[in-house]
Amino acid sequence: TKEIVIAPSILAANFARLGEEIAAIDAAGADWIHCDVMDGHFVPNISFGADVIKAVRPFTTKTFDVHLMIAPVDPYLEAFAKAGADIITVHAEAGPHLDRSLQAIRALGKKAGVSLCPATPESALDYVLDRVDLILVMTVNPGFGGQSFLGSQIEKIQRIRAMIGDRPIRLEVDGGVTRDNAAIVAAAGADTLVAGSAVFRGNSSADYANNIAAIRVAAEG
Ligand code: DX5
Ligand code: ZN
Repeated sequence: TKEIVIAPSILAANFARLGEEIAAIDAAGADWIHCDVMDGHFVPNISFGADVIKAVRPFTTKTFDVHLMIAPVDPYLEAFAKAGADIITVHAEAGPHLDRSLQAIRALGKKAGVSLCPATPESALDYVLDRVDLILVMTVNPGFGGQSFLGSQIEKIQRIRAMIGDRPIRLEVDGGVTRDNAAIVAAAGADTLVAGSAVFRGNSSADYANNIAAIRVAAEG
């Protein structure tokens, strides 16, 4: 068995009670809190920004894993760092200067992540592997929760696992992850699983705990 990080996406939480929802998934066994930031430009939906992250940051001490689906991204990195992000992930497709964005995140003292949309090949990572702490493989087209997992990405996860070698990089998978596919995702090489709708099903911390445990058991085998 291997140690899997489960990162519930608060995109599927009740936004009217976002602080309490974060406290609930913390109590339910979430390892990280995954925050999906969408700008209505890089992706066809708008979610929340740095001020909301700052407002809910006091509701847990767990790692804030901030997934920026925004372009341009560089002008906003400092705001997310100051809001309490621990990991800041940018998209390889968000602009021509991925290397600069990753350097800027580390210069802010945060862990740097890079995310790939489903149609982006893993070769986008070739020259940034030494600048990243996390690689995020999207297994849906980013923009919405509740979509179906794209099986085409399993091969990409396997290839990226091989590329990582012994580097201390986490390999995260995001989109359509459930207790039913968590084993396949982990077997392909992922060690960090984001799940939104599959975690926030039900409405109590007890439901969330069951949902997180089911994903963890499936992934850890
Ligand atoms: C999609 C987001 C995902 C998504 C996960 O753009 O990055 O984090 O909300 O939600 P589910 O698990 O419902 O696909
Ligand atoms: Zn995400």
